[in-house]
Amino acid sequence: MSEVAERWGSRRAFIMAMTGAAVGLGNIWRFPYMTGENGGSAFLMLYVIFVLLLGLPVMMAEILVGRAGRRTPMQALSHLALENGHSRHWRLIGLMGAATVFFILSFYSVVSGWSFEYMFDALGGNFTGMSPAEIGGSFNTFLADPFKVIFNHTLFMLLTMSVVAAGIGSGLEKLNNLLMPLLYLLLFVLVGYGATTSGFTTALSWLFTPNPAAIDITVVLNAMGHAFFTLAIGACALMAYGAYMPDRQSLPTAVIAVACLDILVALLSGIAIFSIVFSQGMDPASGPGLMFVTLPIALADLPGGNIWLGGFFLLLAMATWTSSINLAEPMVAMLQSAGLKRGVAALLIGVGVWLMGLPSALSFSSLADWTPLEGKTFFDLVTSIPTDIFLPLGGVLIAIFATWIMDRQRAFDALGASTTLCRGWLWVTRWISIPLVIIVLISSLWHQG
Ligand code: PFF
Ligand code: NA
Repeated sequence: MSEVAERWGSRRAFIMAMTGAAVGLGNIWRFPYMTGENGGSAFLMLYVIFVLLLGLPVMMAEILVGRAGRRTPMQALSHLALENGHSRHWRLIGLMGAATVFFILSFYSVVSGWSFEYMFDALGGNFTGMSPAEIGGSFNTFLADPFKVIFNHTLFMLLTMSVVAAGIGSGLEKLNNLLMPLLYLLLFVLVGYGATTSGFTTALSWLFTPNPAAIDITVVLNAMGHAFFTLAIGACALMAYGAYMPDRQSLPTAVIAVACLDILVALLSGIAIFSIVFSQGMDPASGPGLMFVTLPIALADLPGGNIWLGGFFLLLAMATWTSSINLAEPMVAMLQSAGLKRGVAALLIGVGVWLMGLPSALSFSSLADWTPLEGKTFFDLVTSIPTDIFLPLGGVLIAIFATWIMDRQRAFDALGASTTLCRGWLWVTRWISIPLVIIVLISSLWHQG
């Protein structure tokens, strides 16, 4: 149980690693369709509030635990707890995190597989000349084909787990650092395209005109879950990365930079996608297919549109790849500290997650009528429960750990900021973030029961 010696090569490398984890399907796929299903501006406003009041402080808490412990999440938690006279059972937070990312990665891989399919389709020119209705129909036809969906899920898991097996620092980051700015650029281009459509002003007012009347407990719970999901917090995945954080770096500065970029990417894709939704007279609440249907409609008929579209889905796949590698990390770290070799751990996790992905992959075909809970398919459940319940629960436990259990000076040192800032973080986490998560979780349970 000794400390790790490795560090990310530079401050910038650490920020890029966090960005790789944060920016992914959450921003470009999940954010737009959740906003669409939860009343537009009401969801957007709550999501931003939660990122600021919960996301930032909890993200700092989570990473500082990894940084102070300089071990895998479970080892860091038990080490820091014992050191300050508390029970080593606090490490169970790490176990819960590993279970949570197991379910998240299972559907994340399936949906990333959808982007593979769309990349191949776009580059093959399949969307050229299709009407919007045909593009919508082709998405459903694709999802109803278990072979294609499972094939792409398999391909994505293979790519993810081979990098995981090779370990952090395998060169993917460098490629990613090079390519992600292109993704951001393309999103700006899409927003530019959106601005030329008739739906642009409707999209802006739908996203940004406050509409408190649309808020209910479900919207609140969904927005809170999404804030955790998009920042990659609550499951000890960033805690694992924090173990390698360079010694002299301000954690708050790094976290604020990553969170701002994450919000920006979500807003850009939201504006682009809803401009298309409103100019085509589509339903904003049409669910997980939203991005996959709108972008081909926008791009397919532009000159060179297939290349743009194919490039977009390629870059999206890259972004989700780095997020998936981060999602796998809490599981790998756990198996590694149980004595398994990294490659064996990656193989076991890869097979397990692949199997767990199958019911999601089949939720639009053979299992479409299987609705285990409240009329929801397996896919609906696995994309909501781990995110909306278990990420906030993990996050609040991590925040309690960092502010009440571990040694205060240890925490402040790992935060690497001025005393005023450290005290501010402690106060906000203890008296705002922690109570807020607990209140939202309890009132939504209350509401269900
Ligand atoms: N933050 C990622 C996204 O927005 O796509 C998803 C994610 C990564 C969630 C890592 C949770 C996690 F631990
Ligand atoms: Na994100």
